[in-house]
Amino acid sequence: MEDLKNREPILKIRDLRKSFGTHHVLNGFNLDLFEGESLVVMGKSGSGKTVMIKCIVRLMQPDSGSIELMGKDITRIDHEEMDILRTKIGFLFQGSALYDSMTVRENLEFPLRIHKEKYDQKDKLVKEALESVGLLGAIDLMPNELSGGMKRRIALARAIILHPKIIIYDEPTTGLDPITAKEIVELMKEIQIKYGSSSLIITHDVDCARVISNRMILLIEGVNYVEGTFKELVSSEDKKIKAFFK
Ligand SMILES: Nc1ncnc2c1ncn2[C@@H]1O[C@H](COP(=O)(O)OP(=O)(O)O)[C@@H](O)[C@H]1O
Ligand SMILES: [Mg+2]
Repeated sequence: MEDLKNREPILKIRDLRKSFGTHHVLNGFNLDLFEGESLVVMGKSGSGKTVMIKCIVRLMQPDSGSIELMGKDITRIDHEEMDILRTKIGFLFQGSALYDSMTVRENLEFPLRIHKEKYDQKDKLVKEALESVGLLGAIDLMPNELSGGMKRRIALARAIILHPKIIIYDEPTTGLDPITAKEIVELMKEIQIKYGSSSLIITHDVDCARVISNRMILLIEGVNYVEGTFKELVSSEDKKIKAFFK
């Protein structure tokens, strides 16, 4: 990972700003995600982590700043180009967010429906994604028949169904018991290796960060307050940094 700085990042955020009225959430946030790495962004609840992700997928318009995804500034491209880029990103949203009235199979087919050529191979893609999370046997179940950990796995299968270059995780372990959370983190590592993807992981789970991160950013008061490896940050004497690792 040492030569990262010489490479062009596949996701590059510069001077991102977003306020809600007088509430300044992002105050000039910067981020580089390099190919093959697992970058963890840690921030307190309400610090703007989800807002940042929403800006990346264009669910939210930033006030200013640029977000370059694979060389394209997503704040400036049209909807068609954005749709193409979205197929290269997988999302695991906070919570899991499966459709309760659809079977597991239907939940996984959902992201394929707008891609004709992918839709034609849907059976193969669904089964492959379910195998990757070890839940092929759950294909015909309804979400209410699944445990919390299984739901999270299915949501992960849905996120990787199009073999994304980048996987963005919003609080992947929140709401799970410690053992299940550990299993999900291990699975995230396996997926990263199997698919050769890059991961952006938003979390406040210190154990998750320790296991998964190559590099970390702490989001404090709307900016990337500090960057470094888990080891570097955990041994910092800075009060604001220490507060994360208590
Ligand atoms: N659509 C919105 N309108 C007003 N305030 C919002 C909106 N979305 C987020 N916020 C505020 O922005 C702050 C950051 O939210 P969020 O990114 O969800 O935090 P977190 O770091 O926990 O994911 C919170 O104080 C939240 O209330
Ligand atoms: Mg959030």
